[in-house]
Order: sequence, then structure tokens, then C-alpha cells
Amino acid sequence: MKLTVNGQAVQATPPARMLLSEFLREELRLTGTHVGCDTSQCGACTVHLNGEAVKSCSVLAVACDGTDLCTIEGVEHRLQAAMIRHHGLQCGFCTAGVIMAGLDMIRRHGTALDRTLIRAELEGNICRCTGYHGMVEAIHEVSRDV
Ligand code: FES
Ligand code: FES
Repeated sequence: MKLTVNGQAVQATPPARMLLSEFLREELRLTGTHVGCDTSQCGACTVHLNGEAVKSCSVLAVACDGTDLCTIEGVEHRLQAAMIRHHGLQCGFCTAGVIMAGLDMIRRHGTALDRTLIRAELEGNICRCTGYHGMVEAIHEVSRDV
């Protein structure tokens, strides 16, 4: 299959049953995409597929032929600095997924994002350390001027 990952052309022949999360981590060594559950619950594996957030453990790698993928390694956005400033992380395991989900909700809702909606949208991203307050504040701050 041929696809674009973080702006780079990639050609690969993954096994038919390989998950996108495994493909990114094991074949492309893009280990910023984490795997916390493999059952589509934790959100640590969230990436952007053709511009939309998806849980990469719920997508087969072979289904990504011809797509445009973005992982946390391809992101350079002020949401990252805002997450640090608002203490939106501790161990960081969930953080890439939260940022990819946060960027997606900012793209979809823009200035209509309020804290209640951000909390609802983060339902699919589980953080075991930090609580969600800092993440919500970071996403809210960045959504104010899009
Ligand atoms: S590893 Fe994909 S949702 Fe948890
Ligand atoms: S910061 Fe540790 S799991 Fe979220």
C-alpha cells in the first residue's frame, strides 16, 4: 500500500491483520502513538486519518492505502505548549492521544467549544494520572482564537 505519514510518502506491505497502531509503532517506529488497551477505549492511540481523529487500534493498517495520516510526531501546534502550561499531563502516556483528540475537536467546533463540550468530547481518552482539568483548560484556551 501507499500512503502519506506526517507529510512523507510511505510504501509498505503490512500483514492483513496488523492494526494501524502496530504498524505505526513497529513498522514505522513512530512510538509517540501509544497503546493502552487495544480495545478502542483509552484513546492513547489516537491519530488523524485524512484529517479526522481515529483510534488507530480500531483500524487495520491495510485499510489505510491511499490515506493521509498524521501522528503526534507530525504535530507542531501551540496546544502542546498550552498542555504544559496548564499542567495537562503527568506521566504523559495519554498525552499524544489527548492532543490529537483536542486538535480534532478544535477543528470541528472552533470557538463554540466550551468546557462542558470539551469534557464530553474527551470521554474517549482515559488519563490515569492527572485528572482532566488542565487538559480542558489547555484545549479551551487554544480554541478561543481559531
Ligand atoms: S490503545 Fe487504542 S483506544 Fe486504547
Ligand atoms: S498523564 Fe499519565 S495517563 Fe495521562
